[in-house]
Amino acid sequence: MTVRISNDAVALACGADAVAAAFAAAGVEVERVSSWGMHWMEPLVDIDGVGYGQVSADQVPSILSGDAKSIGRIEDHPFIAKQNRLTFARAGKTRPTSLDDYYASGGWLGLGQARAIGADATIETIMASGLRGRGGAGFPAGIKWRTVADAPAEQKYIVCNADEGDSGTFADRMVMEGDPFMLIEGMAIAGFAVGASKAYIYIRSEYPHAIAKMEAAIRLSAHLIAPFVVEVRVGAGAYICGEETSLLNSLEGKRGEVRAKPPLPALEGLFGKPTVVNNVLTLAAVPWILAHGGEAYAAYGMGRSKGTMPVQLAGNVKHGGLFEVAFGITLGELVNDIGGGTASGRPVRCVQVGGPLGAYIPPAQFDLPFDYEAFAAADALIGHAGITVFDDSVDMAQMARFAMEFCAIESCGKCTPCRLGSTRGVETIDQIIAGKNVDANLALLADLAETMKFGSLCAMGGFTPYPVMSAIKLFPEDFNR
Ligand code: NAI
Ligand code: SF4
Repeated sequence: MTVRISNDAVALACGADAVAAAFAAAGVEVERVSSWGMHWMEPLVDIDGVGYGQVSADQVPSILSGDAKSIGRIEDHPFIAKQNRLTFARAGKTRPTSLDDYYASGGWLGLGQARAIGADATIETIMASGLRGRGGAGFPAGIKWRTVADAPAEQKYIVCNADEGDSGTFADRMVMEGDPFMLIEGMAIAGFAVGASKAYIYIRSEYPHAIAKMEAAIRLSAHLIAPFVVEVRVGAGAYICGEETSLLNSLEGKRGEVRAKPPLPALEGLFGKPTVVNNVLTLAAVPWILAHGGEAYAAYGMGRSKGTMPVQLAGNVKHGGLFEVAFGITLGELVNDIGGGTASGRPVRCVQVGGPLGAYIPPAQFDLPFDYEAFAAADALIGHAGITVFDDSVDMAQMARFAMEFCAIESCGKCTPCRLGSTRGVETIDQIIAGKNVDANLALLADLAETMKFGSLCAMGGFTPYPVMSAIKLFPEDFNR
């Protein structure tokens, strides 16, 4: 009998090490694997495919004697069975830094296929897949790769953006902690396709387990991706370094300040050289696409949103975790059917999709399909596909204030609408909360929001008005109206 327990950060935080030690002390072989992504179940114990949820060390004897209640086969659990796991196909099943497990589960087939068909056909495969940037903006990955491939230069770079800063997001972390070779393979395929010999993966400092596992996996697989080289660089806690140009500045050892575009990083990126900057999830989708074909990936999804999206359910939600699904599923299905509604049991008041810069969406709009264009038409943002759920006890004026305060703290300071506007925004919302000149201050806030939206250099200042104005529009009663 082998007992499988995740060593992902969520499992560790919930006491997985103590549970693993208790099984080991009872003479049972324990394998530390990646997480299934059913976070509310952690520590989740997997014995020959059968799961035991929220296990504590003192429950180990009853599990071993057969007296404990299981959740049945994990693969058959509705939270797993309803998913389309392409990027997260190995989640819960393999040891993160085992090359043997990676090979045995189809690892390196994508890189082999890329090398067999050549660089040009590799880019064509990514084009055919319809893969779009999973960091938030949804720009077609194949077009970005083609731009870099066609740019004449001796040196080109791949930069993986692993500065996952959005509230309620953890899919990048799960890839790095659970399946690091997949990300390395994706970067190696990108490097081969565009003619880049070197890659940097920029990981936020708040992810120590991801950093350790990525570094270990890079050491173990260096010979397989050579002459391509991957290096880890660690951020220093600035949200804005998730914006691609400030990330590049940070990588170059400069202050993490946003650069004006153009020039696009694809033409003048890291150290002024043509650079592919892709999010973890974009690069992690690539090995599957090469191994199975672009058309197979494009068969999932709807409209121009092809393939699958690893949706992250967080906040006040009963079943928080990672749910990879084809685009097209509705927000209501995700929040109510999959997420099970709020953890508190109170009614859902709204959700925020796309991190701290995303608009609030009320249950009345839960028929919205998960699709870049449908969300944009509703003035909302898919972003990195983090969904944060709030129940009816939330004070939306405080949430609007938080959005402005967050922007004031995290602004890189380069442009005035964001640097000054966010601080003035906090002050104006405080006036509204205090009931002072509410109508005049709401008009002032709307004016400020327009200025930030259209006058800011990047998404930080440009998108902060979305949560603020959607909160006012949807819940005027929270703003003394
Ligand atoms: P953008 O629309 O300016 O660019 C998207 C990507 O396409 C960039 O990499 C850009 O360099 C590239 N690109 C654009 N035109 C190109 C061309 N003709 N050829 C080659 N490449 C081209 O969006 P931006 O400012 O990079 O990102 C904004 C998004 O970031 C927002 O939509 C938001 O959802 C997301 N975001 C994500 C966060 C996270 O933690 N993942 C945090 C905050 C925002
Ligand atoms: Fe910097 Fe804010 Fe301007 Fe972006 S919008 S460049 S974060 S000051």
